[in-house]
Amino acid sequence: MLNRRNFLVLSGLTAGGAVVTPALLRTSTVAGQADPPHHSQHPGGGSGGAVASVAVAPFSVRMPLLPTLRPVRSTRTTDIYEIAIQPANMNILPGLNTPGLTYGGGFVGPTIRTRTGRQVAVTYRNLLDMPANVHLHGGHVPASSDGHPMDLIQPGQARLYEYPNTQQGATLWYHDHAHHMEAEHVYRGLHGFYVIEDEDERHLRLPDGNHDVPIMIRDAQFDDTGALVYGNPALRTTILVNGRPQPYFPVDARKYRFRLLNASNEGTFRLNLGNAGMTQIASDGGLLSAPVPRDEIALSAGERVEIVIDFSRYPVGTQLVLADGTRGPVLRFDVVRRADDRSRLPDVLRPLPPLPPATNQRDVVFSFDLTGPAPVGLINGKPYDPARDDFRIKRGTTEIWRVTNADTEFGFMHNFHMHLAQFRVLDRDGKPPTLDDAGRKDTVFVAPGSTVRVQATFDTYLGRYAYHCHFLEHSSVGMMAQMEIIP
Ligand code: C2O
Ligand code: CU
Repeated sequence: MLNRRNFLVLSGLTAGGAVVTPALLRTSTVAGQADPPHHSQHPGGGSGGAVASVAVAPFSVRMPLLPTLRPVRSTRTTDIYEIAIQPANMNILPGLNTPGLTYGGGFVGPTIRTRTGRQVAVTYRNLLDMPANVHLHGGHVPASSDGHPMDLIQPGQARLYEYPNTQQGATLWYHDHAHHMEAEHVYRGLHGFYVIEDEDERHLRLPDGNHDVPIMIRDAQFDDTGALVYGNPALRTTILVNGRPQPYFPVDARKYRFRLLNASNEGTFRLNLGNAGMTQIASDGGLLSAPVPRDEIALSAGERVEIVIDFSRYPVGTQLVLADGTRGPVLRFDVVRRADDRSRLPDVLRPLPPLPPATNQRDVVFSFDLTGPAPVGLINGKPYDPARDDFRIKRGTTEIWRVTNADTEFGFMHNFHMHLAQFRVLDRDGKPPTLDDAGRKDTVFVAPGSTVRVQATFDTYLGRYAYHCHFLEHSSVGMMAQMEIIP
């Protein structure tokens, strides 16, 4: 039976099992959210503010461009990088230090940019006092470099991850995936972009260089000293964009390509640009077949979308606000100068390949077990066990998975992320996929009571790969499973 304690625990899951502190109970009450399931569904919804959190006026800081990492060395085939996983004092809120966990010292890790056909090798050195690891989210990579939850980098150790980049251009990201700890690690800063470009895409002449901008959006809660509070997700009311609170970004009056990622631990952003509208060109796994005009884009935790905005349609001095319908402003674009623009937004991008016929169907059902002292996340009735293979899949085969969110009674939101493969959404509750489901996907939202059917082909690699809810407070308490790809 679900009791009040369990509601609150679910709302404030912590890394090593659930701990409800008196402070958490108090802030939950102060937030005045009487309907407990809201805590997990709409973190930070509206006015339910955290006590003692820092207020920064929207648009008072500039959005930084994320640094692109330089290889320490390059060979004919491979770019070689080194990244330290290290504690650092981060500069997020004006005038305050935020202790956190970082890739290389910055709050959003450095962006790795590569191209299809070029290999990347990254040595991560773990300077934390606890295990960590790195998953390349959206990457088609060997199991040994996938960052399996039990494949950890111990404190003081280093580990080489090799990425073949055989897939087409896409906006990927990398983040921690250490068993039971991923939620807190990612929350405290272990996330960064990994962008694959490809030759065909270049011929399209989409905006590039300074006009191709990765933007990481996520939420967080801070106390009045600027420290991150890892607690009730409903209290993560501060929206960070490339590591700064609700910033502004000066733009030229021309086209830009923005790569948007929701790197929050859980929840969804529903983004609009007022009356201006946006044009979507790509989803998780790369380009759509053609640009799609969008008024609102929903991005659940872990999903990416690429959009083009043409600021040449607006006079210099115009300000356009990217906002979430309920959570408020996210980012303001300030059109500051006229500019030449040789880039294009073609009517046709790149066709999606036909789907090979599926030879197997499987069910994946998400739910919470709320009967014990702490909530346990389940897939098909079982919490994650790294020693168990939930599915065995023959390499080269194509399957349809019916993914269901069975948490109807209390309305917990989930989403579904599969490692190794990009999938396509076939339908949602028997109806055609939504615009948010379009293209190659690796993460897809699943509302309570909904069933989303996805189709994937499991090619190239053998071994163990995870799939899970990407609401990381859920996966880290068990809402994860694994498949073994066999010859
Ligand atoms: Cu982005 Cu298994 O995760
Ligand atoms: Cu979930």
